[in-house]
Amino acid sequence: MTDTPTRDDAWALLTEFTDNPSLIKHALGVEAAMRAYARSFGEDEEVWGIIGLIHYFDYQQNPTEATHLHVGTGILRDRGWPEEWIETAASHADYMGVPRDTRVKKTLFAVDELSGFLTACALVRPDTAIAEVKVKSVKKKLKDKAFARGVNRDDVTRGAEELGVDFDQHIAFVRDAMATIADQLELPPRSS
Ligand SMILES: [Fe+2]
Repeated sequence: MTDTPTRDDAWALLTEFTDNPSLIKHALGVEAAMRAYARSFGEDEEVWGIIGLIHYFDYQQNPTEATHLHVGTGILRDRGWPEEWIETAASHADYMGVPRDTRVKKTLFAVDELSGFLTACALVRPDTAIAEVKVKSVKKKLKDKAFARGVNRDDVTRGAEELGVDFDQHIAFVRDAMATIADQLELPPRSS
């Protein structure tokens, strides 16, 4: 790739390797949160969004720690994607050993597991739009170990700490970003 990849390139890459609707919605949710944080920090929204969209693109075909991201980063390098973006995508998994030393890396880590958790919170209340999910109820569910067991609670809290944002505000911020694309995420519509 000679030119800087675009959002269309990112979408093509994601859908080349992923057809699982949950994984595609996860990618879109993380993209929305990355874009919102980029805007609020005055960073490059397009780049942050693209990184969110592709951070998991190899997971469907490589779902283990031995392969996920190891394979994906190789594909991105072969295709000439910017090394900084590749490093950023890789940094969201601790086992890759890439230090989260930039704001975009910290943001990706902070929104990744939380966005999945918020999706679970929205789906459990089909009559309630994601925009109306209360921060207090999200925090209560985080303490309920049986709820959305696949979400690593430690990553959720550590992510906000590393990014240096208030936990309650962070939950509301990611929720609101996801609410802007609730239709694409196929989350419950507004009750009113
Ligand atoms: Fe993810």
